This record gives sequence, C-alpha cells and structure tokens, in this order.
Amino acid sequence: MILDPKKLEFKNQIFVILGVSGCGKSTIGRLLSGRTGLPFHDADEYHPKSNVDKMSKGLPLDDADREPWLEKLSGLLKQWHEEGGAILACSALKEKYREILGENTKNIHWVYLKGSYELILDRMQSRKGHFMRPAMLQSQFDALEEPDYGLTIDIEQAPEQIAEQIINNLSMEKKSVFGVYGLGVMGRSLALNIADKGFILSVYNRAEGGEEQIVSDFMRENDDRPNIRGFTDLGAFVRSLEQPRKILLMIKAGPVVDIVMKQLLPLLSKGDVLIDGGNSHYTDTTRRCEQASEKGIGFVGAGISGGEQGARTGPSIMPGGELEDYAKVAEVLEAIAAKDRSGDPCCRYMGPDGSGHFVKMVHNGIEYVEMQLLAELYGLLRSDRSNEEIARLFESWNHGTQQSYLLGITQSILRKREGDGYLLDLVLDKAGNKGTGSWSSKAAFDLGVPNTLMSASVFERYLSSFKDIRVELASRFPRRGDRGGALPEDAVLREAYAFARMINHHQGFELLRAASEQYQWDLDFQRIARVWSEGCIIKSALMNRLETLFAEQGDLLSLAEVTEELKEQEEAVRVLLSSALNRRVALSCFGAALNFWVNMTTESLPANLIQAQRDFFGAHTYERTDDPGGGPHHTQWG
Ligand code: 6PG
Repeated sequence: MILDPKKLEFKNQIFVILGVSGCGKSTIGRLLSGRTGLPFHDADEYHPKSNVDKMSKGLPLDDADREPWLEKLSGLLKQWHEEGGAILACSALKEKYREILGENTKNIHWVYLKGSYELILDRMQSRKGHFMRPAMLQSQFDALEEPDYGLTIDIEQAPEQIAEQIINNLSMEKKSVFGVYGLGVMGRSLALNIADKGFILSVYNRAEGGEEQIVSDFMRENDDRPNIRGFTDLGAFVRSLEQPRKILLMIKAGPVVDIVMKQLLPLLSKGDVLIDGGNSHYTDTTRRCEQASEKGIGFVGAGISGGEQGARTGPSIMPGGELEDYAKVAEVLEAIAAKDRSGDPCCRYMGPDGSGHFVKMVHNGIEYVEMQLLAELYGLLRSDRSNEEIARLFESWNHGTQQSYLLGITQSILRKREGDGYLLDLVLDKAGNKGTGSWSSKAAFDLGVPNTLMSASVFERYLSSFKDIRVELASRFPRRGDRGGALPEDAVLREAYAFARMINHHQGFELLRAASEQYQWDLDFQRIARVWSEGCIIKSALMNRLETLFAEQGDLLSLAEVTEELKEQEEAVRVLLSSALNRRVALSCFGAALNFWVNMTTESLPANLIQAQRDFFGAHTYERTDDPGGGPHHTQWG
C-alpha cells in the first residue's frame, strides 16, 4: 500500500495556528486542512457553556475561565495526534496557555500569524458582519506574548501564500517517526517496507570503508519517496527523529552491535528505544537490555525472519525486551510485518530480555532441520529420479498438509536449469552456516532438552564441509546407489516426512518451553506459532495447525491426536531408513526422529547401565527401582 505522498508527509502532525482575533486563523487553518488532508478544528467551538454565556454578554474571559477550556483542548490534541493529526485554530495568546495546550502532545507545530493592530483593525472593519471594538482588539494585543519558537508568519501576504509558507517550513523542520541504521540488504528492504506504510523515516549508513555511496545511491534510487531522509552523519540522523526516538539497527550481529551502541547511546535521550533486528545471541541481547536501561534507553531484541523478500513485503517479527519499550515501536513493526490468515500482524511481543532473539534462534534451529529433511530425501531419491521428478513429487506434497515455504523453494531450486543441465548439480556440496543452528543446539544442551534433530542437522552441515576427506574415502567406499533395492513408495516417503517434521516442531517448542521456565519468560506457544505462520522461512500449513493444537495446554506428545498420527507413520520411517541404509545413504535427521520417538515411547531404556557405570567408576550413585524415592544408593561394583 503506497499512501498518497501528500497525506503521508503530514501523517500524525499537529498544527496550532495562533494569533489575535481577526488575524485569519480559521481561513489559514482551513486552507492548510485542504492541502494536508488533516481535519480542521476551531478552538472557540470547545468553550464550556459558562464561557459561551459570559462572552455572549460581552464580558471578557479571564485566565480562570480559560483554564478548563485549554485543558480540554490539550486532551483533544493528544487524541487527534493519535488519530492521525489535526489543525487547531486557537488564539493561545499567552505562553502559559500554550504550555497547557502542549502538555500532552510533543512536536506541535506552532504557527503564529503576526500582523499590526492597524492592519487587523482595518481588515476587520472592512469585513461584512464581523465587528470588533477597537478596545477589545487592543486588549488582545496587550495580552499577547509572541512566541520565540515555531513559525512566525507575516499576514500581509495572501492566505494561499501563507499556507504555502507553512507547508514549506514544515518540510524543513519535520521529524521522522522512525530510524533505520544500516542499509545492507535487510536494512534497505525494511526501510522501503516502512516507507510504503506511510511513515516518515530517516535512514543512516556510514560513508566509509567502501560504503561511501550507500546512502546517496539509496536516496537516488528512491527519490520518488518524499518520506525517506538519508544521513551519513550520525548526529544529524539522531536529531532528525522525533522523541521518543525509535531506531532499528540492521547491522551484523556480534561485536559490531556493541560498537554501534557505544556511538549511539550518548546521542540518545531517556525514553528512546533501540531495536536490534539482527540475529544476535540472546544472552548478548539480555546484557544489552540491561546496559541500555542503565541510561534510561529501551532495548528491544527483535528476531526478524523472511530474508530479503520478507523484509521488503512482510517479515515475521519476534520482539523481546520491556513491554513498555515494545509498545513504543509496535505501531511501525506491526505495520510492516506479514499478516496471518486472519489478517493480524505476524509480530507480537514475545517476552522480556533476550526472549525475542531466543525465539528467532529456535526458529532457525527448526529451519535447519526442515532444510536437512528435504536434503536427505533428495539425497536418497536422486540416484533413481531426475531433479524434475523429485520436484514434481515435492510439488504434489505442497498442495496439502505438508505445504511449506521451504518445500516450495526446493521445487524451484530443483527445476532451475543452466545450459543443458540443472544448476543444482553444479552447486558444491559444502553447507555453510552463520551459527544460529549451533546456538540452538548449545542452548538445548545447556537446558537439558533432547533436540536431537537440530544437532543432527548442524553436524550434517559440518560434516559436509570435509569435502577433501570425503572424496578421498569415497574412492574406496562407493555408494551402492540404486543397487540397494527399490525405493519406498511416494506415500511412504510422504508419511515419513510428515512424521519427522512433527518431531522437529515438537523438539523446537520443547526447547522454547525449557528456556521459558528457566528464564521466566512466560512464552506463549500459540502466539509464537501464529507469528511463525506467515512471513518467515518456516511458515507452513503445519504451523497453522500447531497454532490450533497449542490452544491445549501441554506439549504436542501429550495430545492423542498427535501421538496416534505418529504411531501410524512410524512404520513409514522404518521402511525409509532401511531402504536408505541398504543404499548406503545416510538419513541422520530421519534417523534421529525415529530414535527419539521410539525412546520416548519406551518404558525401559538401557540408561540403568549408564547409571551403574557412573557409580562404578565415580561413585555418582543411582536410584533403585525397588526403592522409589529412597537413596541415593552406592555400590562397590568391582
Ligand atoms: C530467516 C533466516 C535468516 C538466515 C539465517 C540462517 O529467518 O530469515 O533464518 O535469518 O537465513 O542467517 O543462516 P545460516 O543458514 O547461514 O546459518
């Protein structure tokens, strides 16, 4: 949605046109209203009845009469500001009147219409039906305290010229409602998304280290967008923002965030909010929240998913920090986020501290597994089927309950041709990573949660990078390929895929549960599934289903609907795994999924032997089945 540039430039602006009676406040106010699209209000229409009665008797109002009227107007200005802006014509002759008017609303544009006593008297006397005694006008001039701020306009000019001057001046002095720091791929896409939604925003990028042209190029490419202002000077960027300032940092996660915070914090004021939209580690975010709050600055760690395209058209956003800080930035973040199936934004407050970045980290862990499962299926099928055939199979799944963004892009990847062949066949089989998958696995280890699929998918990426050793060993241990017997039927593959995905999501959400309990974040699974239902890399039909399933308390394995389904699908995974093993094709994630399920549904595990071994060599003690609640026990085993 691109708003009318005329309107978006004035969105949320409040103008107060002031001056003595007869200076033309209403005329100018109405003209401005036509130019800006903002509604016009005449302060005289808001007098209480007692004032109206007094004035109708020709009695002048005193300050005590004006106070309730000004208080009321002050509340209305706040309301109008929240509703999108307004223009108010109000004499506001004294400074204390203006103080009351401005009590509830920051950033009022004060416009003082200045004219001499003679000029105004002359104009009023020549106006039909408008009569003012010279003494009354004089008393207004006596009371007038000219403001030494805002805009002072000489009323000798024609009204149209005056309106033009006010608008030109506003363009010079208007503040941006939001700032984006960093114009990398994600930063620029989010900036354009924010601009599309009608917000006036400032963007900043440094102009050094090879980035000299970033801002000027961006501004040139978008010179048809009046609501974007570009800066390479950090001070000017900060000064261009209305208070409380809201700045989204779109920079590389890691020490750079601390360096940028060090530069920015001294320039900010109490109540301003920084948002870190990168893939920062949640413990760093918790530390930064504390660091910023010592200076009265809010810090929101917001996981943002969806890649470049999502950032441009609607990402999924997972913000964490203090709720009151999130409240200040919610309007912009929720406006740019993807919308779920009910039209609600896929951006909701997650919880305190680094919880938003934790949720994003787990999102990425789930993402790693979803990618690995598809890679494992492709790895098994490719000895028998062409890329096009595999794409067709995935396509058939993508119309039903297994529909997902990753399944969709995988079809496109499989079909991408280059010359006579497929581009995928030319891509080197060494998987990279930026760390979030291993962070998820580490968190699972720290919190004692069996996230076996996530760690398997991370290790598979690591293993793939040992290309040289693999090539060397492979010459001695060739794949058996299609000599391993028939491939399972498509329906079996699909069931096994559905099974592994459910286990993946179960494990991911249980990691969230453990963190939520450990850090007292009170994470809401239904809300998280909803925020992940659109805009992000793991959006899928399953996520919509999970949103419904999480209406029930407890984990997925406590739901009969889920366990019955897994029970039915279990055989398919066994068939898939044995077929793959016969062909010497490793399916680590599928294997991890089946092992997890089998063990979770097995009463007696061989962990008794582990306990006995621990007690043997380390006197670590053990519990006894014939002494429940007793112990701990120790035995001299040797
Ligand atoms: C997203 C992605 C995004 C990115 C990660 C994963 O949600 O938009 O998860 O954050 O793709 O950086 O990257 P690696 O695979 O390189 O670890």
